Amino acid sequence: MLEENQNKYYLEVITRLINVIIILLIVIVLMGVIHFTGLPKFKKNTGDVGMSEKSAARTDQKKTSHWQAPDTNEIKNENQPELIAYGRRLIVSTSFYLGPHGQVSKTANGMNCQNCHLEAGTKYFGNNYSAVSSTYPKFRERSGGIETIQKRVNDCIERSLNGKALDSSSKEMQAMVAYIKWVGKEVPRKEKPEGAGIKDLAYLDRPADPQRGKEIYALRCKSCHANGGEGKLNSDGSYLYPPLWGEHSYNIGAGLYRLSRFAGYVKYNMPNGADFENPQLSDEEAWDVAAFVNSQPRPKKDLKKDWPNLAGKPVDHPFGPYADPFNEQQHKYGPFEPIAQARKKEK
Ligand code: HEC
Ligand code: HEC
Repeated sequence: MLEENQNKYYLEVITRLINVIIILLIVIVLMGVIHFTGLPKFKKNTGDVGMSEKSAARTDQKKTSHWQAPDTNEIKNENQPELIAYGRRLIVSTSFYLGPHGQVSKTANGMNCQNCHLEAGTKYFGNNYSAVSSTYPKFRERSGGIETIQKRVNDCIERSLNGKALDSSSKEMQAMVAYIKWVGKEVPRKEKPEGAGIKDLAYLDRPADPQRGKEIYALRCKSCHANGGEGKLNSDGSYLYPPLWGEHSYNIGAGLYRLSRFAGYVKYNMPNGADFENPQLSDEEAWDVAAFVNSQPRPKKDLKKDWPNLAGKPVDHPFGPYADPFNEQQHKYGPFEPIAQARKKEK
């Protein structure tokens, strides 16, 4: 009797043990399945590769954590709604107000700020203004001094728009500054949100190649920006497609004249319609087309006063003198990594 009871007891213990083992096995198999199917999907969604069907569904969710500009419908609730709205119009239709036939003054080359600061300076990695209000006034190596937003806007007018600086007390300057501040008004002081400005691309381990860039230009850019890089005009004299080189383009002192700025801008914004989620060029294509476009003729500018501290010159500034032994050719086309490494050692 006693023995029988003991046997029953052991049997029960063994069945329970087997049950536990089965449950453990199921858990292990499940974890394996999650690991091998779940994780790669997650990786795919970092944005650098073309968007797959699977990750498309997640885009909306991801966008909410992206920086977004305030809603333009809210401008009317601000202190100076008219000034901000005028500033926005100046950014979008700069040519109408300040171009060669400008209504206010004829100070700029006919391009619009928006040609480079897409969607009125609000597009994610479209050279937007999200970090301007939060970080200016700030020290900049190019001038070697503290720059206000007014000074920075005039930099773009004198270089990117190859024009004459506006008086900082002019209504136009005040309006553009008011608008730019409004775009970044929700960004805390000193912060730079994810998606601000232009995204940096990894350096190539070879010089960027204008010859390859020429082929890419013919295939991917020429249909809009035209054979000679001159772009296309609307009938009212504004640009349908802005110029990429020649007398009406940005001058040699402009940010886009540096290969890294051009490549980073183009990779996530061109051909027109590309964006951070849907880039259409590889990094190599972006660098090579930058090399081609920035080898074409464009307006000059006296740059003697730029970069007073040579050690503060960006690795891709194409004009000497330099604080390092690399020549102008390498500072223009790369490879840039050896220059960056040499500078790290200096420090
Ligand atoms: C040809 C292209 C181009 C045009 C046109 C242009 N810009 Fe820029 N702008 C740039 C580039 C490139 C930068 C530097 C971005 C970087 O270094 O990451 C820049 C930087 C700026 C910045 C500083 C952004 C920051 O986060 O520090 C401001 C402000 C600015 N531009 C305003 C303007 C205004 C206003 C206009 C029109 C009057 C204008 N820009 C026209 C290309 C352009
Ligand atoms: C479908 C037409 C189209 C194609 C193709 C295209 N672009 Fe653009 N590009 C535009 C338009 C339109 C703008 C101005 C955007 C705006 O104002 O909103 C622009 C602006 C630019 C700008 C800044 C403004 C300037 O003129 O300096 C650069 C740089 C640029 N494109 C380079 C390229 C490159 C490089 C390619 C080829 C890889 C390319 N684009 C292909 C239409 C196009």
